[in-house]
Amino acid sequence: MNALFHSRLERAELLHWLTTDDPAPLWQAADEARAHYAGDAVHLRALIEIGNCCVRQCAYCGLRAGNRHLLRYRMSMDEITQCARQAAIYGFGTVVLQSGEDPAVSSEDIAALIRQIKSETALAVTLSLGEREEEELAQWKEAGADRYLLRFETSDPILFDSIHPSLPHRQSDRIALLHFLRSIGYEIGSGMMVGIPGQTWESLARDIELLRELDLDMIGIGPFIPNPHTPLGQRNGDPLPHQIPPTEEMTYRVLALARLACPRANIPSTTALATLNPVNGHELAFQRGANVVMPNITPEKYRARYQLYPGKTSVDATSDEGRLSIQRRILSLGRKIGQGAGCSPRYQQCSTSNALCCAASI
Ligand code: 5AD
Repeated sequence: MNALFHSRLERAELLHWLTTDDPAPLWQAADEARAHYAGDAVHLRALIEIGNCCVRQCAYCGLRAGNRHLLRYRMSMDEITQCARQAAIYGFGTVVLQSGEDPAVSSEDIAALIRQIKSETALAVTLSLGEREEEELAQWKEAGADRYLLRFETSDPILFDSIHPSLPHRQSDRIALLHFLRSIGYEIGSGMMVGIPGQTWESLARDIELLRELDLDMIGIGPFIPNPHTPLGQRNGDPLPHQIPPTEEMTYRVLALARLACPRANIPSTTALATLNPVNGHELAFQRGANVVMPNITPEKYRARYQLYPGKTSVDATSDEGRLSIQRRILSLGRKIGQGAGCSPRYQQCSTSNALCCAASI
């Protein structure tokens, strides 16, 4: 067995694997760790992008409030419920509801939506709705939500503040929110972008340490992709000193290190990664630590408007062809299609009494 598999990965080792000319042992160790702790199943999550309105001004993201080049939408509660029903019919075990940070969508509406989905289907519900009030997050948990995704984007607080301005009268503290979410029983997910202008090797290594400290259930990692309608996408000039390349290969390195740092987490092969390599990006990610993929089932008429960055591809699971194609790609690697809710192995271990997880296949 690969020695890396058992190593604790101190800072120097993280830096080594981020920069070495020979990453092959890293791929192998991450794949072994994935097989050992998470098994051979790849879980499919149905992603619904329920709205692209956002009050934030993040310097990297196309949904930022200041972007006038985007036609905004909010799906109606009926449209979302209808999509969730369809996800259950397609055989998904989880639905992910994602949007910009949009306080105009009331906490009550989201809670009612979760209750409706839970009453009609056996779906696990993952939320990815940005930084909301603790009372709202608690209300949604109470309504039956299972998981919450909130990326910390970068562990460097100065870089984070510069790309993610706080709202007036409210300092962002995503780490504190993640602790809160865990304390009230959510499975928690976080992660970062690779190659943000101004991100250094040290801070990227620190990101991986932070994943471990948070002991996450889910880890999303994608390359930074410049969006011309954002301040970071308009930056020209020479690369900053010690700039991390926002490449496909660098993303695999970070993903593989995340698997070694958090072996029992669920780790998706992300859309941003597949955008850089639509041909076999997902396959390579599945062989380098990933065990989840999130096919997009957002209605066609809205999908093009959820433009975080240009060229965004999505595995399409709304057509039979799209769904069969991703399943074929998974099976061709000798892997299985995950059944049931697919909670993280970490969460299953911590709460064996959780009924959802008893049904999971891994
Ligand atoms: N490039 C890559 N990823 C991005 N995200 C937002 N904008 C970009 C971009 N330009 C990611 C962020 C966010 C997630 C929903 O999408 O990490 O948390």
